[in-house]
Amino acid sequence: MCGIVGTIRVEGSVVKGLIEGLRVLEYRGYDSSGIAVARNGAVELEKRAGRLARLEEALADGHLEGARAGIGHTRWATHGAPTDANAHPHTGSDDRLAIVHNGIFENWLELKHELEGEGVRFSSDTDTEVLAHLVERRRAEGDDLPSAVRASLARIRGYYAVAVLSTGANGPELVCARQGPPLAICTTDEGAYLASDVLGLLPYSRDIVFLRDGDVAELTPGAVRITTKSGAPVERAPERFEADSEAVSKGDFEHFMLKEIHEQPEVIARTTVDRIRADAGDFVFEGGAFDDDFARSIARVQIIACGTALHAGWIARYMIEGLAGIPVDVDFASEFRYRNPRLVPDTVALAISQSGETADTLAAVRLARELGASTAAICNMASSTQVREADQVVLTHAGPEVGVASTKAFVAQVVAAYTIAVRLGRARGTIDRERGQVLIAELEALRAQVQTLLAERVTGRVLEVARRYHEAKGFMFLGRGINFPVALEGALKLKEISYMHAEGYPAGEMKHGPIALIEPGMIVVAVSSRGPLAEKVRANIEQVKARGGVVVSVGSDAGSHAISDMSIEVPETSEWLSPILNTVPLQLLAYDIAHLRGCDIDKPRNLAKSVTVE
Ligand code: F6R
Repeated sequence: MCGIVGTIRVEGSVVKGLIEGLRVLEYRGYDSSGIAVARNGAVELEKRAGRLARLEEALADGHLEGARAGIGHTRWATHGAPTDANAHPHTGSDDRLAIVHNGIFENWLELKHELEGEGVRFSSDTDTEVLAHLVERRRAEGDDLPSAVRASLARIRGYYAVAVLSTGANGPELVCARQGPPLAICTTDEGAYLASDVLGLLPYSRDIVFLRDGDVAELTPGAVRITTKSGAPVERAPERFEADSEAVSKGDFEHFMLKEIHEQPEVIARTTVDRIRADAGDFVFEGGAFDDDFARSIARVQIIACGTALHAGWIARYMIEGLAGIPVDVDFASEFRYRNPRLVPDTVALAISQSGETADTLAAVRLARELGASTAAICNMASSTQVREADQVVLTHAGPEVGVASTKAFVAQVVAAYTIAVRLGRARGTIDRERGQVLIAELEALRAQVQTLLAERVTGRVLEVARRYHEAKGFMFLGRGINFPVALEGALKLKEISYMHAEGYPAGEMKHGPIALIEPGMIVVAVSSRGPLAEKVRANIEQVKARGGVVVSVGSDAGSHAISDMSIEVPETSEWLSPILNTVPLQLLAYDIAHLRGCDIDKPRNLAKSVTVE
């Protein structure tokens, strides 16, 4: 959730690099930020509530310049309100060390009371400060910094990525540790760098070391020494990270979200092209994932995810049941992990995640494994914990997603689910070669169809709808069958970036309660594609109109458009791929409405990109 950076260099000042790193990571958390540097035998810091710009203002006079080691943090508050005092870094009782932290120390209060009982005075409401005092005490007892960090973390229960900056007899020292949230490191001849997201390291190197849970790393200019919790040295070979730096800039777009929506045709191609076996009417995945033997052994699929990724999971359910005939359950990861689930033998737990670091999803999959399931992941981050822990992996190739509201990662997840469903169907004989070829041809046409949705004719229409309704009382999104999760996703996108009230419902459920909300000023977005359920959606549209609601239809069903107040036409594709085409205008609608309402689109309030705490 929070962003962490750290640097130790041979020479030169680190302030600019730390701020640039925080700017790249600001999407992870943005309610306060701070940096600490080691200079002249002391740690000095500056931190501010609010956006990074406030910290930059505070540093503008250059008073922290000249230090060759430092750490930085951009925060998404968990313990303590977003104030200057609660912003990271946190220090101990003197000016010899500072700490930044992402995650939660679960037993912090217990430790805080113990330390207070021994006379320690706290200057913040955070859990993080506890670690600063614990490390400081071990240092006072003579431990070197890595040993002090290891011993202090041994007292802490929870999950964290931390970086500790200290002043030692031979100059500044920098140590970091991981238990849960990700932490990556790179080295060059000039220095060593750490960040909670690989994006923060790309300006320095493409060869990235990813820490594992329990690792403690000591950084010195040009080198890193990693040990386990118990102090045993371990080797972690660098992995090459190939994404280009273009991927993390906005280019000509005003917001990352808009850029990422426009990248979707390319993302569809990247996620599929090397996997298509057109002659065989089939797909093949790297590492032999979902091969014939495995595909035939599956009795049930348990999908586990959160938020937008969960919506992709609902769509995957329709695809896998419909195309491969395998029963599928879908669960919120946060519910699955606490509801004492029962799994039948030969279940595969399929996690869907952009980041591969979502705490609930990771925990739910680990539980499924304990219950005997094999595990699989659809994931966008090759270096993530999710990918490392899964038995089978299908990577989405969406590239780095910076906008907090997920768009291109969702489309890539749905596309990956489709390829898995077809693969399973081919292996189990529910899809023959010819049908497989048709399904592939429909997928191959999708890229151009998404492109047409991004052309002015459609974007202009979406903007017209947004202009007319951006001050409405509220929105209800309705869809049926495989497009019911699209309604959920349309509502989620709108509420998270525009803060408007929006509900998503399966259209058939409307008369079981939500219809009570229909009145003049309530906008109903009906997702309606041609097919067997279109007639039923039309009936829902009539019911809304009869009660004074306004209907905007989105999809390929001309009959629905004819009876709606406004409509956004979407090209026709198969039932299976219709969710992708229907989602694109809803992403644009949320974007336009948020824009017209003056919202901070890439950094919506209260949200963080990667939810690495429970
Ligand atoms: C919404 C959004 C979130 C994420 C969710 C899961 O736009 O981005 O709902 O989808 O937090 O995150 P990942 O996919 O990283 O597991």
